[in-house]
Amino acid sequence: MPVVDAELELRLVGRLARIEELLAEHCQGRTPYVTQAATHLMAAGGRRFRPLLVLLAAEAGTHPDAPEVDTAACVVELTHVASLYHDDVMDEAALRRGADTANARWDNHVAILTGDFLFGRSSELTADLGPDAVRIQAQTFTRLVEGQILETVEPGPGEDPLQHYLEVVAGKTGSLIATSARYGAMFGGARPEVVEALRAYGEIVGSAFQLSDDILDIAADSDASGKTPGTDLREGVPTLPVLMAQASTDPADARLLELLAEPLVDDGLRAEALDLLRRHPAMDQARDHVLGQATQAKKLLEVLDPGPVRTALESFADIVATRTS
Ligand code: FPP
Ligand code: MG
Ligand code: MG
Repeated sequence: MPVVDAELELRLVGRLARIEELLAEHCQGRTPYVTQAATHLMAAGGRRFRPLLVLLAAEAGTHPDAPEVDTAACVVELTHVASLYHDDVMDEAALRRGADTANARWDNHVAILTGDFLFGRSSELTADLGPDAVRIQAQTFTRLVEGQILETVEPGPGEDPLQHYLEVVAGKTGSLIATSARYGAMFGGARPEVVEALRAYGEIVGSAFQLSDDILDIAADSDASGKTPGTDLREGVPTLPVLMAQASTDPADARLLELLAEPLVDDGLRAEALDLLRRHPAMDQARDHVLGQATQAKKLLEVLDPGPVRTALESFADIVATRTS
């Protein structure tokens, strides 16, 4: 939980508990099998980072308690969890939120269809929010998918690999987190310039969240992250620390660069690369980049009056940039 004053914290905690109940209801299918598969990841935990951002952004408006805010919080979490079912198939991941992924527990078909089911549920709720929300949701989905596709494509000739990667991150993660802040501000009744500033804030915080995740894929052990370390290296996804290390011309990095040239499918080679990367200055360089993004995001909050809501959103950006799990 970011730094919030006691009264705001009480409100947020109570509301998040209600959203948790709603999410569990939205995971119910017509048969126990569908319910079990759809509840699997939702029940395994998760930070509820996107719903919390919806609620915080709504506090910048005149009617933060509007029921549409809760619906929007469910929409973004259901969309997110749907995308994780698909992502774990693409990444052949075995562990998420400390639990077996759906593809490991059942198989790829179940995981893909469960992701579709949850995305369907999220779309039903979006329809309740009206045509503007439907349009925003559709655009967000397009960006999510394009980001995920772009991740599987090499940068074009002459294209800066870092720029290419930042585009991937903006699409696959920045888009939905931007929409979370935008929905919160919209349905909480914020002024149009505040809605736009919070959307832009969410976009930057969202990218920072993904880049922190990339750093943790290298730095954290599975007890902290609930995932298998080095998944990005195994899949050959060149994340921020890897791209920064690859820019090195230091001869001492020759072995690391050789290892990073291919997807690290072999467990021993991946462990060697993880060890070299953890001690490499690229890790701090990547962390500095993320801290710079948090500063940029906080600057956008100047549109808000100083007070508990602005402080909470500033703290939210800081937490994202310094997360350890
Ligand atoms: C996690 O990235 C993946 C995403 C944030 C987006 C995935 C998007 C899709 C699969 C498009 C389909 C979307 C829907 C709504 C059905 P990661 O693999 O880097 O992170 P991880 O470490 O959490 O696995
Ligand atoms: Mg993944
Ligand atoms: Mg992935």
